[in-house]
Amino acid sequence: MDRLLQLDDVTKRFGPVTAVDGISFAVERGEVLGFLGPNGAGKTTTMRIVTGYLPASSGSVTVCGFDVLRQPIEVKRRVGYLPEGAPAYGDMSPAGLLGFVADLRGLKGPERKRRLEKVVEQLQLEAVLQRPIETLSKGFKRRVGLAQAILADPEVLILDEPTDGLDPNQKHEVRQLLDEMAGEKAIVISTHILEEVEAVCSRAIIVSQGRIVADDEPAALMARSRYHNAVELRVEQGKAETVGACLARLPGVASVEPGDAVNGQAALRALPREGGDILAEVRDAVAREGIQISELNVERGRLDEVFRQLTT
Ligand SMILES: Nc1ncnc2c1ncn2[C@@H]1O[C@H](COP(=O)(O)OP(=O)(O)OP(=O)(O)O)[C@@H](O)[C@H]1O
Ligand SMILES: [Mg+2]
Repeated sequence: MDRLLQLDDVTKRFGPVTAVDGISFAVERGEVLGFLGPNGAGKTTTMRIVTGYLPASSGSVTVCGFDVLRQPIEVKRRVGYLPEGAPAYGDMSPAGLLGFVADLRGLKGPERKRRLEKVVEQLQLEAVLQRPIETLSKGFKRRVGLAQAILADPEVLILDEPTDGLDPNQKHEVRQLLDEMAGEKAIVISTHILEEVEAVCSRAIIVSQGRIVADDEPAALMARSRYHNAVELRVEQGKAETVGACLARLPGVASVEPGDAVNGQAALRALPREGGDILAEVRDAVAREGIQISELNVERGRLDEVFRQLTT
């Protein structure tokens, strides 16, 4: 195990508000951790503490074994941070900002040139390099922010909503970029896009009111959904009611929900008791009763439903 990031009982109070309330977790090299939670849950505050931009009220954070408060320079050297919102220094151009960050990071000579060229290519910034950042579109601002975060190829990446404001093509590109970098780094991303968690994260933490309410692999979180292992099928609209009643009588089935109808074919969803596997049971019933089906799917579960359960 190669633990690159560790938080121990981190708490942050702003006057009467406890924004972060005793958060502890560790991230190993190779992990992409999705950091999820409703608005105001404490994600950004936690990320600012991890990167040394905000001191915690209590608790400790170490990055590659260095303490964020006592060894800030060692920590900053190893962390790339994409803050929430647009990059600072809006009157600078991307070229100016990236050059400035390269100097701060101590990049020199051919290595400096190589890294600058690499991030400009990775985030496709060539066309906007000389324009003031504040005149760029939201998505380009985000990409400039990401470019400065990964510029020095740090071991730990803390990315606060990295794909916020990106178009679908750019979201895809950024997810691919995260995948490529994942093996060598510990990456933490906050996001409100739950498909992103399935697409790029090896693990997800859900926070609510400053506390961790779940810490698991995405598939395991989805398995907590009442739709996990649900079997959806489509039957002729006129027969939906009878078929639904037949499925509802199966011992493994907890309930049957009607779905939308398309081209005279109505959807029915059989939800299992306690997440059990009901596929065989449903198939047998379909064969036994001679039910004509046009589609049959097993659901993995729904992260949005689990998210709501845990945070409301
Ligand atoms: N500088 C500050 N002063 C006072 N309160 C703050 C400050 N920064 C954050 N807070 C409060 O701390 C809580 C957590 O905010 P935070 O920005 O960390 O949430 P978040 O999970 O990032 O939310 P979002 O999904 O909206 O980005 C909120 O109640 C917020 O109002
Ligand atoms: Mg935030």
